[in-house]
Amino acid sequence: MKTGLFISFEGGEGAGKSTQIRLLAARLTKAGRKVVVTREPGGSPGAEAVRHVLLSGAAEPFGVGMEVILFAAARNDHVEEIIRPALAEGKIVLCDRFMDSSRVYQGAAGGLDPAFVATVERVAVDGTIPDLTLIFDLDALEGLERVAARSPEKALAGTPDRFEKDDIAVHEARRKAFLKIAEAEPVRCRIIAADGAPETVAEAVWQAVSPLLGEKVHG
Ligand code: TYD
Repeated sequence: MKTGLFISFEGGEGAGKSTQIRLLAARLTKAGRKVVVTREPGGSPGAEAVRHVLLSGAAEPFGVGMEVILFAAARNDHVEEIIRPALAEGKIVLCDRFMDSSRVYQGAAGGLDPAFVATVERVAVDGTIPDLTLIFDLDALEGLERVAARSPEKALAGTPDRFEKDDIAVHEARRKAFLKIAEAEPVRCRIIAADGAPETVAEAVWQAVSPLLGEKVHG
């Protein structure tokens, strides 16, 4: 049976995940690998429909429990429709955020009981766990400054999305929570220092990914 490679990219706002996913996808494609780039919340038509509800803040009044279940509903659809079929075809899946974002944003830093988040996670991923999770670590303030610089019109209009708008203490709590996951699961997770130049960060990403290529990817 062919088995692909599943890599998730995690971290706070403005940590540079998207740039690094783009660079890694290009490098892998050049090396002849079949790559699928995807993101959460979203990535499949069903999950993209739920994305809008979450990021617009429409679900916020109903509480963080409602939000985590919506993230999970989106995640389950994404896993079934996109991720698992791609892995079965031996492809490398690069996913911008996955289950650790729920553990951090809704769990550790969002106040939900971790046991509840874990139960929902099990249903959502149904056994499809990343082979490697890259946790992009950056000072929270620097991340928010990068977000503002990348979309000045948003900053000026004062309309950050549902999760960007939280205050700095919450962003810092998220950073700590991601680092704690990395510490608890050192085989699956690698911390990537995200404060360097894009080429430097890309090299760190490659160091983490390349050892897995020979081992896991066939076809
Ligand atoms: P997005 O615009 O995709 O931003 P980013 O570039 O930061 O990934 O927004 C996704 C937002 O949703 C982000 O603020 C993190 C949040 N999120 C959760 O709170 N829980 C989750 O399970 C996921 C996947 C994302």
